[in-house]
This record gives sequence, C-alpha cells and structure tokens, in this order.
Amino acid sequence: MKIGIIGAMVEEITPLLEFFKNAHLNIQTQTIGGNVYHCIHIKQDSVYIAYSKIGKVHSALVATMMISYFGCEKILFSGVAGGLRKDLQVGDLLIATKLCQHDVDISAFGHPLGFIPESAVFIESDAELNSIARSVAGSIGKELKEGVVASGDQFINDDSKKQWIIQTFGACAVEMEGASVAVVCAAFGVPFCIFRSISDSADTNADISFDEFLESASKVSAKFCIEFIKKLGVGI
Ligand code: ADE
Repeated sequence: MKIGIIGAMVEEITPLLEFFKNAHLNIQTQTIGGNVYHCIHIKQDSVYIAYSKIGKVHSALVATMMISYFGCEKILFSGVAGGLRKDLQVGDLLIATKLCQHDVDISAFGHPLGFIPESAVFIESDAELNSIARSVAGSIGKELKEGVVASGDQFINDDSKKQWIIQTFGACAVEMEGASVAVVCAAFGVPFCIFRSISDSADTNADISFDEFLESASKVSAKFCIEFIKKLGVGI
C-alpha cells in the first residue's frame, strides 16, 4: 500500500519524520516542483511525506503529485486548524467529515457561496478512513471531534469573518488546505482523511495563539497520524 501524508508547514511534518528517523527507517528524498517528498519503504508498503507550503494551490499541487506521480492510494493530511466551536480548544483533535472552500464566490452568476459548476460546495472525506480514525481514537483513549472544515487562502483572525464562516458553511474549523486536497482526491477517486489539531480560535488573538501552539498542536495530529497508519497495517 502507498500512503501519502501531507502537511502545509514544515512544523506539521517534522514530528512524522522524527518518528520514522527514530524507528531507524531509511528516508529517501526527492525534490519535485519546489516540494521535498520524503519516501519511506517499509516491507511491501511505502509512505510519502511532504509539506506543501501554505494554501489551496500548494496543497493541490502536492496531492496531485502524491497520487499521479508517486501512486499513493490513500491520502492523509496532518496539521493544525482554527477552532470555530466552543468544544474545540487548543490541542483538541478532529477529522473533517466534509470540506468546503469558504473563499469561493461566484454568486454574481446566481451560484451559492462556495459552489463551482461541475463541482460541489462540500466534498465528503472517506467514510471508511473516518471510521478507522474513530476506532484508533477509541483504542488509544483520545477524544476525536468531527465536523465540516472550511478552507480558504486567508488566515482567519477576525470575529465577524469567523461567524460568517460558521453561519454560511456550518463549519467547525478553518484552515487553508483541506478542501483543495479533497478536490484533488475526489477527482482521482482516492480516499482521504484530514486530521487537524486546534492551534487557535480564529479570533482576534489567533495569530498569537497560532505561533504559540503550532508546534504542540502539530505533534498531537502527527502522533494520531502514526497510530492511524499502524492501524492501516503499515508495519512500523
Ligand atoms: N490554520 C490554523 N489556524 C488558522 C486560522 N485561524 N485561519 C486559517 N488557517 C488556520
């Protein structure tokens, strides 16, 4: 099985790479299109890890490469998000049940916000992978929240924008890559699962909170991601 794991920032994939280094597994790297892909071969399985750089375009590029160049059959995203619900506090972990692009607006032509013709406002993540995630959480005693994740090429640190995203899309978390990874995976028919740990609350304090908790929240998500791929049967 070939599994691709994407993060947006180097901090989001560093704990994953450290895990594989500590397991004394050989990590090869390949640089393509401005991204470094870390390739780890474990018996009959391969894990590909890369950070895309921030935003929907970069993450779509990496997801496309993971699938069409490296042949990944499952895509995981591990990283941080801004929480939009009271029960999503710093360090909490969630999976995206479905994803949307909060910054898509062609309402001038009568389309609903977030809608692109021949696509959809929401793209659902893979039900089977999500159910594996729930069972992993159960077996390690980690609480796993879930809900709609809204992605856009904006860091949200504004209360009114935050409320607008909640009201318009029913989102529980906001980030900048999940929906674009979802679009690519759906286009290629590749199952995907998006893990995010909360780094901030997308409010006026979000930038400070993000800087403070990026590293620790990234570790929460990465740790879960490792347990998840073990459950998928990768022999690590
Ligand atoms: N990722 C983490 N926090 C975020 C926020 N507040 N806005 C967008 N992306 C984020």
